[in-house]
Amino acid sequence: MCDFLDSHGLEPLEHDEWVLDTPFVRGFIGDVRAAVARSVSAAEACRVVEPSFSELLTRPDWLPAQFQRDAPESGMGGGIGQWLLFRAADRSLCLFSLVVPPGSMTPVHDHLAWGLVGLYRGTQDEEIYTKRHGRLELLERRALGPGDFYVLIPPSNDIHRVRTTSDETSVSIHLLTNDTGCVWRHAYDLATAGSISFASARSSRATTTRCFPLATTCTAYARPLR
Ligand SMILES: [Fe+2]
Repeated sequence: MCDFLDSHGLEPLEHDEWVLDTPFVRGFIGDVRAAVARSVSAAEACRVVEPSFSELLTRPDWLPAQFQRDAPESGMGGGIGQWLLFRAADRSLCLFSLVVPPGSMTPVHDHLAWGLVGLYRGTQDEEIYTKRHGRLELLERRALGPGDFYVLIPPSNDIHRVRTTSDETSVSIHLLTNDTGCVWRHAYDLATAGSISFASARSSRATTTRCFPLATTCTAYARPLR
């Protein structure tokens, strides 16, 4: 493992988990791993991965509808669904779709990992915050359409929220260097700048949840019924 990848204290899985096991997804993750192996920093790895990630966002046929549907049963609020596509056995890499129905908005939250996030379907408004003098300050507001993506390297731009602005559900693709659904992250209260810890997979009531105690195992994300 290179020194800019981190298991975040989670114990390894027995094997890589390919929830969407297709040659295209395997090829993409292979590209990512090759990029990480030959890079000396997270920023360089992201630059190398960008063309493959851009193809992921613009190719129309690789993501089945079951990974693009909202999830009213998820418990994440607003029907928001988080669908795992892949995660690495060493917990240092994952790929998932985040589905936000029209009008719904995520809480202000962080990710605690570097990677790439981009829009596959629909449109979103994104607000990026920073914590300063005990308050959350809005740094930037930007509109995202299909194919748009950004590089995320915490602590810069790691606190944000997104709202779907299209009449259709928005679907974003996250390539992040942790096992995002199993990591304790933060959701922030804009009024007080206070935060609570959460692990997003634990919100997925539609699945078996064995996330805890942390650092032992986590098998939960929303998964399509087969
Ligand atoms: Fe996010």
